[in-house]
Amino acid sequence: MEDDSIEPGGASIPAPVSNPAGDRVIVLIGLMGAGKSTIGKRLAARLGINFLDTDAEIEDAAGMTIPEIFEKHGEPAFRRGEAKVIERLLWDMHHAKPPGGVLATGGGAYMRPETRDNIAKYGVSVWLRADVEMLLKRVARRNNRPLLKQGDARETMMRLRDERYPIYALADIVVDSVEAPHEEVVDMVLQKLQEYFFPDGERVQ
Ligand code: S3P
Repeated sequence: MEDDSIEPGGASIPAPVSNPAGDRVIVLIGLMGAGKSTIGKRLAARLGINFLDTDAEIEDAAGMTIPEIFEKHGEPAFRRGEAKVIERLLWDMHHAKPPGGVLATGGGAYMRPETRDNIAKYGVSVWLRADVEMLLKRVARRNNRPLLKQGDARETMMRLRDERYPIYALADIVVDSVEAPHEEVVDMVLQKLQEYFFPDGERVQ
């Protein structure tokens, strides 16, 4: 089993910090390969709060993988299901005891206005922004993205970037998901959350 307490570089994970977002769910958005699940898991671990991944929850609820859902029911049905699952997860996490948590969303989720409204109601949106070359490198490791199965992956990714980045830019917080140890990206997210919720510099750690 993978040992999550040690980074590939050998550094151990820093001590936990308190959660600046409180009962607002920290919702990670961004293109496929931006690191929403990887960073999300580590962020939640640092804050000692719950982590959920919408794709995994959709697969659980449907009893099928995402590619199977696309194949059997089509993308529009997937999108409708995705919006419902996200609304339920946001509500559940916001009303949980203790409330709050980190939610990693699928790359298309934030494009839906009702989902953006629900995120604004219960959470704080964090866009993990990354460049296409890095995204391509990361998604090449797995073959689980139906949108990348047809045609040229680079062209698809560039089209999605052009369509989605203006909408992702509506997020409350933007963090560049750079090629650095995961814990450094987590630190950047934490710093931006702290600035967003405590603009006057009040410390919560
Ligand atoms: C999608 C991204 C995927 C998954 C589905 C569609 C998209 O999630 O929801 O394949 O439209 O960008 P990840 O962003 O977690 O890969």
